[in-house]
Amino acid sequence: MRVLRSLIFIVAVVVSATTGNVLTTRNLSDPNHDPIPSESSYYSNYTGRMPPFPANVTAPILPTVKGPPGPDDRLFQNLLAAEWAIFSFYQQGVEFFNASSFAMLGLPNNTYSRLLEIRDTEAGHMRIFQDSISSASVKPGSCIYDFGFQSSGRASVTEYLALQTLIEVSSMAFAAGLVRQAVANETKSALVGIGETETRHGIWALIEIWKVDPFAGPIDTVYPYANQILDSTNRFIVSGSCPSANPVYPSPRQNLPQISSDSTISAGTPGSKIVFKFVDPENVPMFRKNQDYYAVFFHGLEIISVPLDIKKLSSVVPKELEEKGIIIAVIADEKGAPTEESVLAGPLFLLQQPGALQGQF
Ligand SMILES: *[C@@H]1O[C@H](CO)[C@@H](O)[C@H](O)[C@H]1NC(C)=O
Ligand SMILES: *[C@@H]1O[C@H](CO)[C@@H](O)[C@H](O)[C@H]1NC(C)=O
Ligand SMILES: *[C@@H]1O[C@H](CO)[C@@H](O)[C@H](O)[C@H]1NC(C)=O
Ligand SMILES: *[C@@H]1O[C@H](CO)[C@@H](O)[C@H](O)[C@H]1NC(C)=O
Ligand SMILES: *[C@@H]1O[C@H](CO)[C@@H](O)[C@H](O)[C@H]1NC(C)=O
Ligand SMILES: *[C@@H]1O[C@H](CO)[C@@H](O)[C@H](O)[C@H]1NC(C)=O
Repeated sequence: MRVLRSLIFIVAVVVSATTGNVLTTRNLSDPNHDPIPSESSYYSNYTGRMPPFPANVTAPILPTVKGPPGPDDRLFQNLLAAEWAIFSFYQQGVEFFNASSFAMLGLPNNTYSRLLEIRDTEAGHMRIFQDSISSASVKPGSCIYDFGFQSSGRASVTEYLALQTLIEVSSMAFAAGLVRQAVANETKSALVGIGETETRHGIWALIEIWKVDPFAGPIDTVYPYANQILDSTNRFIVSGSCPSANPVYPSPRQNLPQISSDSTISAGTPGSKIVFKFVDPENVPMFRKNQDYYAVFFHGLEIISVPLDIKKLSSVVPKELEEKGIIIAVIADEKGAPTEESVLAGPLFLLQQPGALQGQF
């Protein structure tokens, strides 16, 4: 009997060692690697606290074949790098909070499980983006991300949920913008499908968490220069923490000065005065004398330019704009910011919904 038991034990050890080995050396470049998005329910209902696949492998996936890159490889590398940040935001939330963190504050008792589910769909995005990069290009790995909510004590739940709304709205905006860079029709449609999923995440929070009108008027904000939005997520990356095999993110990167607005002066709502601040004193635009500068506001398909007082860095959010969804503001040296190069700083997100969050970002 004892012999039999040890035999079973040995067999079990050998089997698990073999499976472990098979799983870790399996070819991550192969899209048939399980679980497969939209086939497996894994990307909806994995409930573990540990990172789900493919985020449980954080190293970049190196090219497995030589040859020219796929036509949209760079776009998907940018997306995958952005997704590591977005996924990590949810993963850190899942590890930091538990069901009672939210229920305690009177939030719906399924808030934590919804966040788990969103975390899983973000892991699914990651797998979709990995699969969309050809085997001739590197698939970026994870950096270390700091979203700030873990260090702010009691306010952290609110801060976390506010950032959730901002992250989803900005994901919608960059997905819509990236369509302009896509070569393959499949890529264009995939970007719309991804943006729609982010919208569902955002809508859930507006209805269940913030209990406000979930709609943002007839059209969400279209911002033409998607890489500038991606670049603004670099503020969450711990400096020097990215794997050296990762490409520059985003590519190409302008490294524009980032701006915030002085929330003691403005709520960022239409008609209100706005005073910009540069986030990094080392990275500010050079203003020339006798040149006109503008604060350019994007909302839906509307683009409205307002003169910028470069001494006070002040302007006015156009009163014509509907107080819904998001207004994106940049500083430009041409009316309407007609080219990527005409943008000198930004973008800044002025979140109009939920109203309570105005001016926080
Ligand atoms: C891994 O999968 C990719 C994509 O299917 C393929 O091109 C490559 O040859 C595979 N590598 C190995 C070692 O099987
Ligand atoms: C996940 O969903 C699948 C199919 O809908 C179901 O079979 C499985 O039991 C679910 N798992 C959990 C943990 O809810
Ligand atoms: C990652 O998760 C997948 C799916 O659960 C699992 O098959 C794989 O062994 C895990 N890999 C690592 C390195 O933990
Ligand atoms: C949630 O976390 C708190 C603080 O760490 C702990 O006191 C509580 O028991 C946890 N609740 C659940 C349901 O795990
Ligand atoms: C969660 O809330 C719903 C609606 O308020 C209630 O019906 C349900 O019993 C609650 N579940 C738990 C586990 O507390
Ligand atoms: C995209 O689809 C349109 C309409 O079917 C077609 O005319 C066009 O050639 C396609 N473009 C590419 C790059 O495949």
